[in-house]
Amino acid sequence: MDPARLPQPGSPDLVLGVIGCGVMGRGIAQIAVLAGASVRLVDAREGAATAARAELLTTFGKLVEKGKLTQEAADAAAGRLVPCASLGELAGAHIVVEAIIEELQAKKALFAELEGILGPDAILATNTSSLSVTSIAAGLTHPERVAGFHFFNPVPLMKIVEAIGGLLTPPAVVDYLLALGKQWGHTAVRAKDTPGFIVNHAGRGYGTEGMRLLAEGVATVPVLDNILRDTAGFRLGPCELFDLTGLDVSHPVMESIYHQYYEEPRFRPQGLTRQMLVAGTLGKKVGQGFYRYGADGKKEAI
Ligand code: NAI
Repeated sequence: MDPARLPQPGSPDLVLGVIGCGVMGRGIAQIAVLAGASVRLVDAREGAATAARAELLTTFGKLVEKGKLTQEAADAAAGRLVPCASLGELAGAHIVVEAIIEELQAKKALFAELEGILGPDAILATNTSSLSVTSIAAGLTHPERVAGFHFFNPVPLMKIVEAIGGLLTPPAVVDYLLALGKQWGHTAVRAKDTPGFIVNHAGRGYGTEGMRLLAEGVATVPVLDNILRDTAGFRLGPCELFDLTGLDVSHPVMESIYHQYYEEPRFRPQGLTRQMLVAGTLGKKVGQGFYRYGADGKKEAI
């Protein structure tokens, strides 16, 4: 495959497929469509793609109200944002970014199906937080077209993205993603295909050590968060960050990185987050995690 044959980043001809219209898929669709790409939305849940488009249009309206987007740009972006009923409608897309559940077999099955739908030069990008890009690509007819394109939540505000080649991905594919991420307004960095890549590897210490401090009773949730946020200069404390991401996402990521590093103790997650996952106190999305959240989204200590 040769990414030089694809429309270059910024080209009005570029068609992107976003699969999985949850938190991340919607964020990726937003920055891509506002940067000029045509975006097709697909989700396995009936009605989710249409709902995601409606939500994005509401966001565009708010950006217009705040003077951050012109009405013309919002209208044009709305015209380029198309909900699709099936994967088949992605035929002709130049790149797809999947943001479905964090399960290796689900991602492999999705890419295997897409191989039969997309053209030979289309890039299959995964927003996985923790799975091996090489493993996702293994078994495909053209594993070289698979790469990681890892955004952070919330995508429009967290202006970084990691581009990751699998073992068989040529550098030109990663170069293309780096240019695309940059054109979408993000700082795009190349990372090796290793567990957690850069941010989720370095950030593990922050999360797992924070949980260890809680488990050992060294500090309470608000003390831990306040001191790391207000004194150490982090945007969010570790508990606030887990609540924002959701333990349904974060705990499996912690387990995945731990196992991929052959059970290296420094990556070992705490029982506390597993218990919270089982109890369903996942974080802000369900109204309770390390904090309780009111209808206005404001948090209070438990
Ligand atoms: P989410 O749960 O908000 O959204 C996932 C969406 O994918 C749902 O709408 C679901 O219906 C859909 N879906 C599930 N299986 C599907 C399939 N086979 N085909 C089509 N659609 C399917 O999840 P979220 O948080 O957006 O995460 C998605 C991916 O992004 C995961 O791989 C996650 O690890 C990764 N990620 C998440 C981050 C976060 O902070 N939430 C940060 C960076 C990456």
